[in-house]
Amino acid sequence: MKKLRSQEWYGREGRDGFLYRSWMKNQGWPHDVFDGRPVIGICNTWSELTPCNGHFRELAEWVKRGVWESGGFPLEFPVMSLGETQLRPTAMLFRNLASMDVEESIRGNPMDGVVLLMGCDKTTPSLLMGAASCGLPTIGLSGGPMLSGKFRGCDLGSGTGLWQMTDQLRKGEMKLEEFYEAESCMHRSKGHCMTMGTASTMANMVEALGMSLPGNAAIPAVDARRNTLAQMTGRRIVHMVREELGIAKILQRPAFENAIRVNAAIGGSTNAVIHLIALAGRMGVRLSLSDFESYGSELPCLVNLQPSGKYLMEDYFYAGGLPAVLRELGQAGALNGEALTVNGKTIWENVRQAPCWNREVIHSYSSPFKPCAGITVLRGNLAPDGAIIKLSAASPHLFEHRGRAVVFESIEDCHARTNDESLDIDEHCVMVLKNCGPKGYPGMAEVGNMLLPPKLLRRGVSDMVRISDARMSGTAYGTVVLHVCPEAAAGGPLALVCSGDMISLDVPRRELRLEIDDRTLAARRAQWTPPPLPERGWLRLYAEHVMQADKGADLDFLVGASGAQVARDSH
Ligand code: FES
Repeated sequence: MKKLRSQEWYGREGRDGFLYRSWMKNQGWPHDVFDGRPVIGICNTWSELTPCNGHFRELAEWVKRGVWESGGFPLEFPVMSLGETQLRPTAMLFRNLASMDVEESIRGNPMDGVVLLMGCDKTTPSLLMGAASCGLPTIGLSGGPMLSGKFRGCDLGSGTGLWQMTDQLRKGEMKLEEFYEAESCMHRSKGHCMTMGTASTMANMVEALGMSLPGNAAIPAVDARRNTLAQMTGRRIVHMVREELGIAKILQRPAFENAIRVNAAIGGSTNAVIHLIALAGRMGVRLSLSDFESYGSELPCLVNLQPSGKYLMEDYFYAGGLPAVLRELGQAGALNGEALTVNGKTIWENVRQAPCWNREVIHSYSSPFKPCAGITVLRGNLAPDGAIIKLSAASPHLFEHRGRAVVFESIEDCHARTNDESLDIDEHCVMVLKNCGPKGYPGMAEVGNMLLPPKLLRRGVSDMVRISDARMSGTAYGTVVLHVCPEAAAGGPLALVCSGDMISLDVPRRELRLEIDDRTLAARRAQWTPPPLPERGWLRLYAEHVMQADKGADLDFLVGASGAQVARDSH
């Protein structure tokens, strides 16, 4: 094994060595921990303001136990934590900022390998992206999903149950007291959202990419086996350092192709599209929306979990979790089995014997839960650079639809007018929301699944075509076209749509069209002016450099990697 990176700090003689070691000794470390053993950074997103990661200090202790057992020296450090439900205006505004924190914290400190503790939605991509730009041996550990929500004898899924109950409330089918009672029933244990929302999807992505030990995606946060996995993760990262198994050997193109396939098979979140493209960009792997079309759109959905289906992550774990899904994909020839994973084995070696204990929850490839249910990419004059729709969560009767546009200029405009009983709208209309993309919101809020007007809900309408440059919560559902590129605030055609225009959605042909002639569009474009940039601070930097959703909404100057080399040696 070549000389460890941490020895550039702790292996020094004289004044420099004194300086690096002595201040650490104020924590009680004996001299021999600096003797050349691998130093393992435990990158922790614990925060009481990120409730999904609220158990991470305890989880880190289990990781440390494993690191010590393998002869390493664990050092835990905090990074910016993004709590999806608490952080305004949207956690996505800070994903790239958090990734910069992670990248610079890893690079600037004496560590040889990293364990990433991830859970709530954006904490996973931000940590992966930051670590990817450094290139050290890296292993992921998710915090695990919450136990199933239970309300009046029935399952209640994170987010998905909230959207359903909100509609019941607006239709007058549920009392406000009942609605509030459900708050304590939905989220009753440690962990992240237990639907196949963005957090669960990204935990599956971590495992599908080969970035975690097998089983990472589904073990509930409070199951003792989550702690066991944490300990095994701690053991493994020390060996990864000794084997010089850096992140670049794992995150190669086959890993991303597998992740795309898995996202289709699990009915995963549309947010995974943005995060995978951004992560690939950090690794120098060319990944585009077309890859989601090529590798994922024709695959069936195997996993019957909310919001596309019925069950929750606890059921998924008991049914066999992601290894059972990967085995199905592998047997069907829809997995690159040669992709390397962090335990040093290929992904197929890890899952070839994986059992499935419940075919209601994890269907076989030959008898899928839903056929052709991957994320589908749409193009056309309304979305020249693409838009996406999650078919597993959409209504098949709307896959070919033509309707009159009802346009909302902002989410505030949408909130203000949707409840207006005089709004000129019926179930055949297409709801269009502008200025909610990466630049426009800014931060690309999860508001694409616009609430339906109460007057239509009362008539039994449960879905309508909705189109925006926004994102959608991974727990949400509906015939919702998202991530329209270019976004309205960047001057995309979406900015030029007016109420009354006709729009056609044609999923079989992968088309999204605004039925307006070019001359009219050109006249409207001449009248359009871009919104002003934010005046200062992070928002200004973000708005000046954020790329469009089809490029992963990363900052243009963060694409790629700088490695682990520190720029200057100040001592
Ligand atoms: Fe944290 Fe859903 S809000 S995972």
